[in-house]
Parts: sequence; structure tokens; C-alpha cells
Amino acid sequence: MKYGLRLRFLTIVSVGALTGAQLWALPVELKERDARSSRTRGAALFNEHCASCHGAERTGTQFGPALRGGVFVTHWSGRPAELLRFMVTNMPPADPGSLSTADYGDVLGYISATSGLFPRAGTTPNNSDEEAAAIDSAAPDTRQLGPIPAAPEVFRDATYHREEDARRHLLDALTPVTDAMLQFPPAKDWLMWRGSYQNISYSPLDQVNRDNVGRLSVAWAWSLPTAINEVAPLVHDGVLFVSSGDQVQALDAATGTLLWRYKRNLPDQFRGTMSSIKRNFAIYGDNLYLATSDRHTIALDARTGRLVWDHEVVASTVPIEVVLSAGPTAVRGKILQGTSNPIMAGGNFIVAVDAKTGREIWRFESTADDDSWNGASVKERYGGSFWIAGSYDPESNLVYYGVAGTYDTRTLLSPRARNHGSSSDGLYTDSTLALNPDTGKLVWYHQHFPRDVWDLDEVFERAVVSLPINGQQRKLVINTGKLGILDALDSASGAYVFSKDFGLQNLVTAVDPHTGKRTLSTVARVPEPNRIQDVCPSPEGVRNWMTTAFNPTSGVMYFPLEETCMDFRWQPAPIADPAGPHLDIGWSVKPRPNSDGNYARLEAVDLATLKTLWVERSRAPLSSSLLATQGGLIFNGSRDRMFRASDDRTGKTLWKARLNAVPNASPVTYSVNGKQYVAIVAGGGGPHDSESVEITPEIENATASTTLWVLALP
Ligand code: HEC
Repeated sequence: MKYGLRLRFLTIVSVGALTGAQLWALPVELKERDARSSRTRGAALFNEHCASCHGAERTGTQFGPALRGGVFVTHWSGRPAELLRFMVTNMPPADPGSLSTADYGDVLGYISATSGLFPRAGTTPNNSDEEAAAIDSAAPDTRQLGPIPAAPEVFRDATYHREEDARRHLLDALTPVTDAMLQFPPAKDWLMWRGSYQNISYSPLDQVNRDNVGRLSVAWAWSLPTAINEVAPLVHDGVLFVSSGDQVQALDAATGTLLWRYKRNLPDQFRGTMSSIKRNFAIYGDNLYLATSDRHTIALDARTGRLVWDHEVVASTVPIEVVLSAGPTAVRGKILQGTSNPIMAGGNFIVAVDAKTGREIWRFESTADDDSWNGASVKERYGGSFWIAGSYDPESNLVYYGVAGTYDTRTLLSPRARNHGSSSDGLYTDSTLALNPDTGKLVWYHQHFPRDVWDLDEVFERAVVSLPINGQQRKLVINTGKLGILDALDSASGAYVFSKDFGLQNLVTAVDPHTGKRTLSTVARVPEPNRIQDVCPSPEGVRNWMTTAFNPTSGVMYFPLEETCMDFRWQPAPIADPAGPHLDIGWSVKPRPNSDGNYARLEAVDLATLKTLWVERSRAPLSSSLLATQGGLIFNGSRDRMFRASDDRTGKTLWKARLNAVPNASPVTYSVNGKQYVAIVAGGGGPHDSESVEITPEIENATASTTLWVLALP
């Protein structure tokens, strides 16, 4: 039996009757169990699963420490919820989480009943509801099991207490993250997934630079819960936060020492699915904000990891294909979260909730209720996912989101009765949306690629940059989609400014220099049903989710590109397909014509002149976001497990290391006590990694092993 929520609990969640702290499932379950029989079961379970290492009397063996006595009681006293979390996430070591929710609870009850670990609920002040419930359920039943053993001797080891105090102090010293900090992030911190509201993946730190990067080495590394994951850690005041597989951990950013951990209790259907991919999370005020695999937004206290509130974004009855893989963006007291789903009817939305309470404030739907959908009813409009977190421009007070295409293309392609003047553009697919974060009102939009029926999304990060255009400084929103065509729009008005085609696609033959409207090639105009067509790129994209980087000092933008094409097939199903909405296009990825077998293309472009400054090509597709630093470096990772620092003037590799697994997440950099660190998660990955196997079959993957690497100068 697997560790998971019960249906009964889900019902409670959906009626929203409980407070955030009460929503933590374990105590609710434990509370309802009969104390005596549960402790008898707990003892039996302990003997079966734990006693071989911890000893039948729990006095410890050489394979596991004692789970009673002074050390144990001193360490866990008053922290029942954390002890439970520890057991669930770590024990038994060979298969953590393998017991059911109720079983772990019974074992906890048994351990505490015979160690006098926790006082009864209510006797300790300052406990959260969550802890009170756990204490209540775990308190010894004196009538049934005899008196509690005499108070154990307190563990008085000075080193232990000094170390625990230092960790507590580091967490207590965390300052609240203010709006001003998010607008002007301190260089030492990394407060948002790509470093700032502008989503430009840039750090002004330069201690690690072109001259010394050759000496970069491992400061510390840490194994994360194994999961598909594309996350960027966050760093604030010397504490690093990271998430993987619905666990969140706080670590000392300089030493890698664990400070706290949180584990989301997932219903079985969400375990080990695509839904575990998370690209980012947020920090704001005193809290961390995360999207969960069961599609809630949660707030955790950054100092303790305790649940502050829990808001259901997508109802549990909605199919699991609907995911929150782009995490939240914190803007002016609100937490914005977009949904993603390839094919489900009803479309996707961005929701804004109150950062303090989790109360919903507004929703914006990405499939427009207009006549741009080929005469199809609102119910038949699919896609419009928000795969990537938004960016924000405080000056115009607008958030920018990219919207993905539709993947069930018959809605846009099948002949239908249409009103005069209607289109099959499919708004707002493949558009940039500019929303007012206070109201959720759409202020402007620009559709980059109307009627996208090739899975060639224009959905990736919107970079907000300031550039001199005709002698005048202008603020622009830069978008480059899978087609590898860069579009620049005015950040306040959405007016089209310029484009650059990287020349790796065959669907668009021209871009109108005044409007940005794209002229389609013959192949693109008429996808022919059930015939193979030669289309460049493949849905891997000339680029994919891995972000570009922009150095505001030099005005140069760096692009992680890929050179592929595809054999594309449209396999239309009847409009009223009983199987419901589904992906009705297929493809196989292949090299570009005359390919030399190098697929990766790191390219630097001066945005003021649109001149390509350099191109660095290599075999293994790029796998990580880029990170530009003022030290003149571009950090980047590739499918062959290489993590590199490239010279931002030439693209040449100045330092590289082969990691334990593919660096397929977003690198970040920060500093603690004046020392700069670079961090990257390896071994997570998602669909982009899987598809690369088709073009580079010689690359072998390591066994799943999600790892956080942190590098520094010695
Ligand atoms: C294969 C040996 C092994 C088995 C089986 C095992 N453990 Fe452990 N356990 C350890 C080791 C080793 C540690 C210390 C290292 C660590 O903290 O991860 C530990 C630590 C612990 C701790 C923390 C002790 C402390 O003072 O911090 C708890 C609680 C615990 N185990 C409970 C359990 C439970 C409950 C089970 C059965 C479901 C179990 N263990 C099964 C080896 C084992």
C-alpha cells in the first residue's frame, strides 16, 4: 500500500471547511484511529519494518540508532509533526514512504507511547494546529500501556546544542522579502527563478569570472528526492530553498546543512507522474509559495517549513494531465499561478490569490470567448497552457505571460460553418498577454503565431529589457518561441518593435517589419491529413523551456538553441470523437538537412543591432537554462552531463565538469559572507530530455538521481 491521501480527506479539501494547518493529512487520519489498537499495530509494524536496524527494544544496533533515551527525546521533543515527516521521507532507508499514511502514524504512536516523547496536546503552548493534532494522536495512552518511563536524562552535548542553535539562528534571522527587494533584488540573493522580475537570468556577481573560473570546484552537493524536476533553487539571507518531488527543503546555502524539510502528502494518482515537473517557486514576505503535484498552491513558513495556507487551484476530479509545472509569481501582495494541460476541454487559466490568506482574487482564461476559433464552441477550445511563470514590469504594472498552442488541432483545421469575418487564429494561443496584476484585466496582447497546429509554442519566458532604439531608450518584452523567431514588443503598449529569425525553421517565409505578422510557407498553409510533411523545427523547438539570458550591461542576449526538424503527421479524428480531446498530431524528430550531427547551438546576439556575435555548436542538445553573470560567464548544461562556464565574448568553454546526471534545470548564483556560489540541479528533466534520445541515441542516462550541485572557488 502506498503513502497517500484518502478520498475522505479530498472531500474535506474540496469543501474548504478546514484551515490551512488542519489540511495536513496525517494528523487528521491519526486522530480518527482507535488509540490502543493503533499502538498494537504500530508495535507489530515496527517489528516487521524497523526493528532489524533499530532493535526490538529500540535501543539501537550497529545498523540504526536508538529510538528512545536522552538523545532521541532531546532531539525530537516537541516536534512530532517533523518526526513523522522524517520517518515518511527517510525510513526505511531502502524504500522511504513505502508504508501507508496510517501505518506511519501507528508506528509514531507506538514509539512515543513507550518513550514519553510528547506531552499531551494543549500542555505545550505555541503549537500549530498541525502539531497539536499530531501530539494528541501520539500521546502515550497511560491506561493501556502502563506509566510513562521516568523522564529521560536530557542530552547535554555542547556541540550538538551549539550546532542546533546556529541552525535555528540562521532561520530566525531571515528577513521578510519585500516588494522593493523583488524589484531590486540584492546581488547576494536569488529571489526568483530567473533572478529578477525581468526573467533575464542575469547576476551582477563577478567574483567568479573569466580569469578564475577554471578553478571552480564542488563546495557541496546534496541528493534530492528523485523526481522529474526542472527547478531553480532560491536563496535569501544565506538560506537556500529547493524543491523536488513535492518535498521542499531549506539548507544552509554556504555549507549544505539541512535546516528543515516539508513533504506534501499526495493522493496516489499524482505520484511519479508528469505533474512533478516544477520549474519554479516563489518567496515573498515570510513565506515560500509552491505549486503542488495535486494542483494546489501552498504557502510555507520560510523559517520553519510549516504549512501556512493551502489553496486548491484545480479540482481533484479534473484529469491528472492538468498540471502546475510553471510555479507561482509573487506580485504586489498576490501569488499568480497558471495552469497547463495539453488537451483538456475548458482551457487554462491564471489565478491570483492573496499572499497572506490564499483567498482567490481573480482568474483569467486563456481561450478567448470570441470568433477566432473556427466557429467551434467554447467547449471545443483546447490548450492555451501557461507552461512558464510570468515576468513583471513594475513601471507599467503589467505581468507578461506566454500562452502555448492547442494540441488537438481539428478544432482549428476541420471545415466548419463560420461567421463572416471570423478566423481560426485560436486566441490567445501563442500570444504574449499583458495583464494588470491587481485586477487580472487584459491590457494588451500580441499573437505571435496564429493557428499553430504543429506544437510550436510561443510560450517561454518573456524577458523585459531596456534598449536604445533609434537613439531612444525603450523597454521591451522579448519573446522567442519554438520557431526560433525573436519578437520585441513595447512593454507598456504591446506595439510591435522588431523581430529576428534565427533561420532554423521552414514555416514562416517573411515577417512584416511594421506589424510582426508572419507570412506562412506552402507547407504551413495547408497541413495535409495523413501525409508526412517535412517541417523545421520539431516540437523540441529551435528553443524550448530552458531560458535565454541577457546581460543588461552589454545589451547581449544568449540563446540555448537546437537544430532539428521533424517528419510531421496530422491524423485528424472526426469532430465528435468519442475518445474526447487528444493530441491529433504526430512527429518524429530528425536532423536538419545536411546536418553535421551537432544539435546544440549556443548563440549570442547584440539586441541593439540584432547582429549575431558568436555561435558555439556542439553535439549534445543543451539541457539547462542559461545564466549570464557580470563575471563574463554564461553557465550552461547539456545532455551529455556537462555543466560549463562559457566566455560571454566568444562562446568558448572556460570550465566544465561532467556531473552525475544531466543538468536539466535552471542554474542560479548567489553569495554568502562575500563568497560566490553557483548552483544547478541535475538528474530531473522532462519531455525535452526524453525526445533528445531520438537524435543522440549514443548518450546513456544515469539511473534516476536528482542532485543539487553547488560550486565555488576553492
Ligand atoms: C536498514 C536499516 C534501517 C531500517 C530498516 C530502518 N531504519 Fe530508521 N534509521 C536507520 C539509520 C542508519 C538511521 C540514522 C541515519 C538517518 O538519520 O538517516 C535511522 C534513523 C531513524 C530515525 C531518526 C533517529 C534520530 O534520532 O534522529 C527514526 C525516527 C527512524 N530511523 C525510524 C525508523 C522507522 C519508523 C523505521 C521502520 C519503518 C526505520 N527507521 C527503519 C536505519 C534503519
